[in-house]
Amino acid sequence: MNLRDQLDSPLFTHFIANYTNPTGPDLLGRTEAFFEWQESRRQTGLWPYSRSLDGAPMAECAVRSETGVARQGLNFGSQDYLALSTHPSVVEAAHRAIRDFGVHSAGSGMFGGNTAPSLKLEQALAEHLEMPYVALFATGWGAGFGAIAGLVRPEDHVVLDALSHASLQQGANAATQKVSRVPHLNNRAMRRKLQELRASDAANGILVVTEGLFSMDSDIPRIEELQTICHEFGATLLVDVAHDLGALGPKGTGSLGAQNLLGKVDLVVGSFSKTFSSNGGFVATRSAAVRQFVRVMGGPHIFSNALVPVQAAVALESLRIVRSEEGDMLRARAMENILALRAAFAERGVKCLGEPSNVVPVPLGDPKVARVASKLVFERGVFPNLVEYPAVRIRESRFRMQVMSSHTVAQMKQGAEVVLNAVEEARTMLEAPQPSPLRVARAESGKRAEV
Ligand SMILES: Cc1ncc(COP(=O)(O)O)c(C=O)c1O
Repeated sequence: MNLRDQLDSPLFTHFIANYTNPTGPDLLGRTEAFFEWQESRRQTGLWPYSRSLDGAPMAECAVRSETGVARQGLNFGSQDYLALSTHPSVVEAAHRAIRDFGVHSAGSGMFGGNTAPSLKLEQALAEHLEMPYVALFATGWGAGFGAIAGLVRPEDHVVLDALSHASLQQGANAATQKVSRVPHLNNRAMRRKLQELRASDAANGILVVTEGLFSMDSDIPRIEELQTICHEFGATLLVDVAHDLGALGPKGTGSLGAQNLLGKVDLVVGSFSKTFSSNGGFVATRSAAVRQFVRVMGGPHIFSNALVPVQAAVALESLRIVRSEEGDMLRARAMENILALRAAFAERGVKCLGEPSNVVPVPLGDPKVARVASKLVFERGVFPNLVEYPAVRIRESRFRMQVMSSHTVAQMKQGAEVVLNAVEEARTMLEAPQPSPLRVARAESGKRAEV
């Protein structure tokens, strides 16, 4: 089958959003339409999701598609930004934790699931963020969701940066119907919204939600200004630092450290699933009462088993490295790669989005071009993540290339070249005039390679 003949079919024109609200009484049966569409993408190599790794998430890795196609190549899809998941002392800490504590947490943090490594992790993180009270969660998702669901009641308001992560959006929607979204990074719009809300409701809480680094756009809010605006209207600010903490800022203190805001923001939420090479999440606060409240009222802390000891030990050892001179060196190496990757795109006229961070968003625009380019780069052994609508706007498809300290500058150049060539090829293929029926017949008999 020639992909060009399919350009007007759902294979190219549909998105996950076309299938999110199926109707009819059969809850299970109505999932079929989505599956069929997904399957058509899978079978044509246009479904770049749910891949698996055949080894550690190193700069070069072995990847397998969901249909079992194996490829070896450059890994641009790992959140292990300082490559700590294979660092000898992190691996050693993991072994020690398994030996001393076993492989399971006995229960939730409320019911015997805390361990010596998890208590040490809370304390080390509190020092790092200069926020004395830290509550741990089994995932970063649970931390963001739980902080909002724990603190916000139906009478309260939540105002989110429009591009906030799904965990924050869903936490807000679960807590109250009074949810508003303001345009991305627009502090003036935020001010207007808070003024409007306060003018009509002086009695209830307002939670403002943003991120330290937006991971689809690699951009960063002016947090101090945002916090000042919040306090002007009696609102509380929550910043999710999942992607920047550890990877950016002085001593890995992220955007808060870079903006001299350690210990000054109302609430900080984060994840261990990126730079801290583990899983789990946290809420950090200056208030003992807030910590206890989000633990007990938030849901995910009390009703999910705690981090297993090995996850806590890995995050703890990663945090030690993040704060050390070695951490400085790893961040500097990663930044050298990041700048080299962005420069390689710029040299050929492509401006990557946002600011230099471990997330390098490469604009592709047309979702059809994006899907074909994604298939081509996989075949050629370069593995970025494809980001499509609804994660971004329909015509703003992009590759999210995630850069690690263990990459090399040469790999950045190679990665950019493969991506750029694939995009050019995809564009040419999709924009080429339709071949005449005669040429089609000839091409088919000559087994023309299908893109
Ligand atoms: C901003 C943000 N918050 C929270 C999360 C969820 O973190 P975790 O993977 O630990 O559940 C992510 C992960 O993608 C994220 O980008």
